[in-house]
Amino acid sequence: MVCPGSFDPVTNGHLDIFTRAAEQFDRVIILVTGNPAKKSGLFSVDERKELIADVTSHLPNVTVDHWAGLLVDYTTAHRVTALVKGLRSSLDYDYEQPMAQMNRRLSGVDTFFVMTDEKFGYVSSSLCKEVVKYGGDITGLVPDVVLAAMKQKFRAQ
Ligand code: PNS
Repeated sequence: MVCPGSFDPVTNGHLDIFTRAAEQFDRVIILVTGNPAKKSGLFSVDERKELIADVTSHLPNVTVDHWAGLLVDYTTAHRVTALVKGLRSSLDYDYEQPMAQMNRRLSGVDTFFVMTDEKFGYVSSSLCKEVVKYGGDITGLVPDVVLAAMKQKFRAQ
């Protein structure tokens, strides 16, 4: 099973979905993918992968990879038949529905949606970046190692 996303950076909302996916599926590949709508990221793809590997190191059936092309080309090449995505709200549903249907049409891959834990319903990578950039406190919304990396990035900018 593949959990695709930008993960710039990974949040505790993502981590909750990875953990729950790892309980339901034998093998979880967290795939850092390109999103044409999101041009430049705070973290490089390698940095995102490192942070995800770090915060999922306690989950033995989870691995991390990246892919710059069409998601379905990756899933077909790796014989993956399922995608897992978190859903926070109807906004996410409206965003995800066409992608799930397009991906299924293109390759037959099915998308499974996991309802986000109520604690993380308002958490997004972009909102976390904005709050940290202007000095706000997001302790508990991202893993500590991610928060430290974000602060370092913004200090360096
Ligand atoms: O975390 P995001 O940015 O909302 O995730 C969106 C993502 C990366 C999963 C989506 O943009 C994607 O699948 N990108 C890979 C390129 C692709 O396959 N595009 C067609 C999707 S139907």
